[in-house]
Amino acid sequence: MAGLLCAAGTTVPAVADSPAPAPDHAAAPQSGNGLALTPPMGFNNWNSTHCRAEFDESMVKGIADIFVEKGLKEAGYEYVNLDDCWAKPQRNAEGKLEADPQRFPNGIKEVADYVHSKGLKIGIYTSAGTKTCDSAGLPGALGHEYSDAQQFADWGIDYLKYDNCNNLGVDAKQRYTTMRDALAATGRPIVYSICEWGENKPWEWAGGLGNLWRTTGDINDSWGSMLSIMKQNLPLAAAAGPGHWNDPDMLEVGNGGMTDTEYRTHFSMWSVMAAPLLIGSDLRKASAETFEILSNHEVIAVDQDPLGKQGTVLSSAGGRWVVAKEMQDGSRAVALFNETGSAQRIATTAEAVGLPKADGYTMRDLWEHRSYNTAGTLAATVPAHGTVLLRVAADGKWAAHPPAVELGLESSPLVEAGRTATLTTTVTGLGRTPAKSLSALLTGPAGWQLKAVSPTGSPTLPTGRSLTTRWQVTAPAGTPTGAYDLTLDARYRSPDGARVRSTVPFRTHVVAAPPAGTGYLGDLPQLSATNGWGPVERDTSNGESRAGDGKPLTIGGTVFAKGLGVHADSAVEFYTGRTCTTVTAQVGVDGESGAKGTVAFEVWADGRKAASTGVLTNAMPAQPLTADVSGAQVVRLVVTDGGDGIDSDHADWADLRITC
Ligand code: GLA
Repeated sequence: MAGLLCAAGTTVPAVADSPAPAPDHAAAPQSGNGLALTPPMGFNNWNSTHCRAEFDESMVKGIADIFVEKGLKEAGYEYVNLDDCWAKPQRNAEGKLEADPQRFPNGIKEVADYVHSKGLKIGIYTSAGTKTCDSAGLPGALGHEYSDAQQFADWGIDYLKYDNCNNLGVDAKQRYTTMRDALAATGRPIVYSICEWGENKPWEWAGGLGNLWRTTGDINDSWGSMLSIMKQNLPLAAAAGPGHWNDPDMLEVGNGGMTDTEYRTHFSMWSVMAAPLLIGSDLRKASAETFEILSNHEVIAVDQDPLGKQGTVLSSAGGRWVVAKEMQDGSRAVALFNETGSAQRIATTAEAVGLPKADGYTMRDLWEHRSYNTAGTLAATVPAHGTVLLRVAADGKWAAHPPAVELGLESSPLVEAGRTATLTTTVTGLGRTPAKSLSALLTGPAGWQLKAVSPTGSPTLPTGRSLTTRWQVTAPAGTPTGAYDLTLDARYRSPDGARVRSTVPFRTHVVAAPPAGTGYLGDLPQLSATNGWGPVERDTSNGESRAGDGKPLTIGGTVFAKGLGVHADSAVEFYTGRTCTTVTAQVGVDGESGAKGTVAFEVWADGRKAASTGVLTNAMPAQPLTADVSGAQVVRLVVTDGGDGIDSDHADWADLRITC
């Protein structure tokens, strides 16, 4: 099962708990509690510990200490939240919840007092069901809403995450309304976080109930999961606003399954989406880079903008995303997000993101912490999986900043070892003012030869003009296939003489043409690979988590010795060097996925879809797939979620062959 969405109804006894409260207990329904006027910020242990033993009192107190010591409290992080597994399996004789004595020997009140003593707030978790999601069968609040809410208030709880497991099929709106009323009846301000995974479209009805609602299944610490959740959450922008937010789940920044570039994308996009920023890594062990990402106050300011708008998608063609968020001061936060595995030019304009027509604009790069002037074009070459996050204003102050330039790479960044390839770089003036005394330099890994064969400088670069330079690039013979970074470095002066330097890494791949004849495509080196859960597995099913945790590839009871086991949403790219003709495979949902898996397969030959299936389910036998990939430099194998989210979507490219 993917997604850790615990099946409702597992080991559920009959509801032995007290009946739903009589109406006279209930406060008058209210449409808002006045809380979370900006998206909640804080910490939750789930993504780093799940129910493991390290989730305990010392962790919670340690995080509160770090919030204060490392400036995170000052940056806006406020809630220290306990997820599942804080409770004892049994209620006490009075039907009250008690803390697990191993994890919280001094009880929850004592931890809450500690967190409060630091000027912070504390959150807790339970389920709108008879039991929580953990297999230990811990007590849920269904039928106990009023007494549990009062218990939380008595402990000093400030935030409740209310999950969906073991809900006995009771209507979601009803379950979440009862707890809303129970929280209101305590009289304590408690942020109310609805966690029914988007199953009942809460964005349509929860605005008057909760301060936030999960829009998707659980996130995990992988690029594919983060991307899939982002794509599900982006279209829901209209539902978000002060006091009521879409919740695309907690942050994975710092947990180790993504690169720092990918974590910066995660943090940028969650901020542009006005998502709750709940840190999900154990800060007691976090790297300097993790703190730097989580503490970026300019990005946090995008998330916390009091206007409370969620950014909207202006374009996403070819995995080049432009997402713009209106800010209270009239400026726009603009994310140029590159979903693809190679550097991409992503461009828009100040007017397209909603700014008024003006002479020039101030364009601030929120990761570089530098401001430029632009005549109107907002553009950058964005590294693979990266995001350039800008804040752009028609504030009349553009003249105080140097002109922006855009660095670009024109030709394909694939090189074969020992053979000279020609790459073309560009430096384009975007500024309202010209860039002066411009020079460009391309550098690569040690041992590589890079030689300019056309001019590398220009005395002046007016708006819209480019310095184009051709470079001969040679990776030494024998360089292993794989990804390498080249760096383009532009130096120039603003009209007032100030020196400016702008650099961008271009991911290059050293590639080798596949051997002639028919062979197993899965055995060739991968140019790039993304997956919804765990890594792409060679010759086994996806397995879901660690590398090597798969089983034999099995579709409809038939076992296959060779192929790739993936998890939607997935894309795997191979270099085929324009020398191959056909890809064939037997495709389907792997038997390990359980009944829920639904996927669709696509084979792409460069930008052309060469073959695809309809939606396939677990009940279906393997389907043969044949794709004509003649002339393609790159073949891309894609698995989508079949339109119903990625849960349980284990997919096999079995008996996967290529003819070259
Ligand atoms: C569900 C939720 C998660 C987490 C776990 C705890 O899966 O969606 O965020 O709270 O339960 O068991």
